[in-house]
Amino acid sequence: MVQYTDELKEEIRSANDIVDVISQYVTLKRSGRNFFGLCPFHKEKSPSFSVSADRQYFHCFGCHKGGDVFTFISEIERISFKESLEFLAERARIELPTVENSEFNKTQYLKDRMFKINAETAIFYHERLYKPLAKIAQDYVKQRKLDNNTLKAFKIGYSGEYNELYKMLKSKGFKDEEILATGLVNKTERGEFIDRFRKRLMFPIMDVSGRVIAFGGRKLENNDKMAKYINSNENLVYSKKKHLFALNLAKQSDSKQIILVEGYMDAISLYQRGFNNVVASLGTALTEEQGRLLRKYSEQVILSYDSDGAGQEAIMRGLSILENQGCDARVLQMEGAKDPDEYVIKYGSGRFKLLIENAISLVEFKIKMVKSKYNLENANDKIRFLKEITKILSNVDNKIEREIYIESIAGNYNISKEAIYAEVNKAAYNNNTKFNEKNLVKPAVKQEKVIEISPAIIKRENMILYLLINHFRESYEAIVTNISLDDFKLETNKFIFEKILESPAEESEKILQTIANIEDAEIQSHVSEILVTDYEISSIEKCIEDVVNIYNKDRLANRKLEIVKELENSSNLTKDEIAKLEQELSEIIIELAKRK
Ligand code: CTP
Ligand code: MN
Repeated sequence: MVQYTDELKEEIRSANDIVDVISQYVTLKRSGRNFFGLCPFHKEKSPSFSVSADRQYFHCFGCHKGGDVFTFISEIERISFKESLEFLAERARIELPTVENSEFNKTQYLKDRMFKINAETAIFYHERLYKPLAKIAQDYVKQRKLDNNTLKAFKIGYSGEYNELYKMLKSKGFKDEEILATGLVNKTERGEFIDRFRKRLMFPIMDVSGRVIAFGGRKLENNDKMAKYINSNENLVYSKKKHLFALNLAKQSDSKQIILVEGYMDAISLYQRGFNNVVASLGTALTEEQGRLLRKYSEQVILSYDSDGAGQEAIMRGLSILENQGCDARVLQMEGAKDPDEYVIKYGSGRFKLLIENAISLVEFKIKMVKSKYNLENANDKIRFLKEITKILSNVDNKIEREIYIESIAGNYNISKEAIYAEVNKAAYNNNTKFNEKNLVKPAVKQEKVIEISPAIIKRENMILYLLINHFRESYEAIVTNISLDDFKLETNKFIFEKILESPAEESEKILQTIANIEDAEIQSHVSEILVTDYEISSIEKCIEDVVNIYNKDRLANRKLEIVKELENSSNLTKDEIAKLEQELSEIIIELAKRK
């Protein structure tokens, strides 16, 4: 919808003198500085309706109606305020901005068009699934045991060949740039328009309110060279990390639980079998935003990821995100099937329900993971196992909960209860003293107010310094070109990084020496902590790449937010400035999508 600016309103107002306008409806007679007439809004014999030429206002002393020229027109013509504006603009022959030409609303309008394109596309694909030419897709959904209600509920579809979608959208009057903005169609170097999704089983991705914002397409051919899934890239209306597949359906469920799965097919298959509280994170690591969504719509999250190694990794990350947000998260454990879809087909929904009931807590899951690394028959392994689980248990704040875990571990793993208690208490004590030191001893370098910095960020910063100190040659170039002094949050780390930047040293030993020469106990103790921590680095190169990526991504994401804000208040920007910002925004979106 077009929003008229205040400036424009004033222009229309001054072009429509209130006395002239009202005179077209009421016979007015001058009396001093004002005009009088019979009120058009109520029946009267003597005139109590007054119009002020100076103030451009009208008022009736009988019925107490009054206002400016816009009020008068909307009252007398029985139209809305906005329509009165249009009415008077026409009267004065002032051209109004239309939806298409209003810079102010350009982004809003484009988004609106994109939603419409997505909606039309979902219908197009869905209807196509029922046509004879879709036999391959029909056979496929049969083979995957999807029933018709499910196909309808998820608006599952079948995408066309070559440029069928493009042609359909053009026939509905959508413009090329609107279509391209959705990413549903690509333009080749030769200027041809080709559908992104071709001959795939299509899953529309909807936002919480049920609007289609993106698509995933599964291959139907048994061709190893084809990607199993293709998904929409990020665009103006779709940000992968902010959405969860099927949340629009799950939020309607009465359950206070949400089952979180990895894949489209897992969510769909469980839904069909009565679990209407399922959402999918679509194969990516759970993000903070998704965590917040889950918390908003549920009281407990059951993580039901694939049973392969990658799935277990994803669980660890997902769990810690949910735990940090104060979410009650549990892990469903599955044997005999690779994912929930396969499981529920093989063993039925009753057994899957049991798995939900037996889902384990974060602590239990962590202990299980540790256990899988060791052979508890071996005495050395048993000691290591005890050390690691002690660390986990010492972080459980609730004493009773802690005792329950200890009892169960002692029983399950044949370790004396007393040994576990002794270790846990020792570790808990250490945790506390460390915690106190961190809080009480401020860095001597700069006595600034202590801001809370998350342990993850500190660990990341520490790791960067660790890389610089221990793997100088491999890391220096990449780090200094991508990470700046201001990126460091912990003052001590900032200080050390500054020293490294300043130092003429080209070799790691010299850097360490430079730092060693700083006479400050706090810094020395911090450096030693950096050096002794195990960052679980398997490849230096990969590790540098990852950490540099995180900072670059943050920067891009921040800039993106900035631009969006600027565009939202773009009334004081020139056309050129807006075009530039929009260009930059689309480049950033593409860049972020590439990095995923
Ligand atoms: N995925 C993707 N691209 C791929 C593979 C997977 O985007 N090449 C995403 C999809 O969102 C997929 C999810 O990761 O749903 C989980 O992957 P996977 O377990 O392989 O897919 P399923 O949903 O189980 O699909 P299917 O059962 O058909 O193999
Ligand atoms: Mn699967």
